[in-house]
Amino acid sequence: MTTEAKTTAVQAQQTVQQEVQQQAGKVLTQFAGFVGFKTIKIGIDNGLLSALASQAEGLTTEDLAVQAGTDEFYTGVWARAAYAADVIEIDSQNRYTLAPHMDKLLLDEEFGGYVGGITGVFDEPEIFDNFSKNLKSGKRIWWDDASPEFIQAVSGTGKPFYTRLIPGGLDQVPGLTEKLNSGARVLELASGAGKGLVKFAETFPNTELIGVDGDEHSIDIAWERVKEAGVSDRVSLVQSSLEDFVEEDAYDLVFINISMHECRDIDRVTRNIKRSLKPGGVFVISDFPFPATHDGLRTVPARILTGIQYFEAQIDDQLMPTAVFADLLDRHGFNDVAATDITPVHNLIYGRK
Ligand SMILES: C[S@@+](CC[C@H](N)C(=O)[O-])C[C@H]1O[C@@H](n2cnc3c(N)ncnc32)[C@H](O)[C@@H]1O
Repeated sequence: MTTEAKTTAVQAQQTVQQEVQQQAGKVLTQFAGFVGFKTIKIGIDNGLLSALASQAEGLTTEDLAVQAGTDEFYTGVWARAAYAADVIEIDSQNRYTLAPHMDKLLLDEEFGGYVGGITGVFDEPEIFDNFSKNLKSGKRIWWDDASPEFIQAVSGTGKPFYTRLIPGGLDQVPGLTEKLNSGARVLELASGAGKGLVKFAETFPNTELIGVDGDEHSIDIAWERVKEAGVSDRVSLVQSSLEDFVEEDAYDLVFINISMHECRDIDRVTRNIKRSLKPGGVFVISDFPFPATHDGLRTVPARILTGIQYFEAQIDDQLMPTAVFADLLDRHGFNDVAATDITPVHNLIYGRK
């Protein structure tokens, strides 16, 4: 081999080595994210994050362990992992504090940007473990096969969507807030564990609400929640598939949160909704905007949505792009159809009968 050929061969080898390192970095970033995810989940479940949230001046490992009632040695292990994940900070006296805004993001269910609920959903077997178990058989399930823990966790994840929707998202629909304030009959489809019904009833005291859901367990939890909130005089619940629920010319507003993509027959449900609205009544979809093409998939929000798709697949559906919902409303003759993204994982699509 000539000297020139040898140099070229060495350079080629170096290029391959650099590429391998870069590719390894991409893979290891995923694993590090998994460690961060588990660390946040441990911190939420064991009160470590809330203990830190309650002490603005910070806590040493020892004090944190006392406050959270955890083992001191284990607490130190957790704290280093949480620091590594950028979730907590440390000062010169070895006192840990929450990193800025982590209290709102991870612990405050009422905050519009709350993301702590995702840890509950992603840690249940329904999403990843069962998908992997059933990948060969393609076995499908429905909500009545999901555990009560999973249903509660989904409800926690849905909460910030309601927080953003009620009243801010709804206020984007021209004239709707005025109507709701003056008095209206409202239908929530796929009302799930009832957090949206309660928020809606409390926000708009002049409304009468009907929640419809196909899952008996969800209806039971929703009813308990509605009673506990003291709004049961204005909220009722119906167990029905969305495909079978129609009440002619009965509602000023029909809305659905993170569930329209789950319809077994989306055209039939949309026809039912149109029939159930009063003339001029509004239909609002609040959902996840799944990227329409592969180009949109490599973002952090889209990657979270690809995780949700594992569960959606098992109940035989998939999240959809915003344009699909807008087309749906157009196809069914809704007027003034509009669509907007409230956040990168939350869209709003509406139309008027
Ligand atoms: C993702 S959960 C969302 C629940 C609630 N909207 C929230 O945001 O917390 C979906 C809900 O839709 C209900 N659902 C899905 N498809 C349905 C259908 N075709 N008919 C009736 N209910 C349905 C499920 O039972 C479940 O409670």
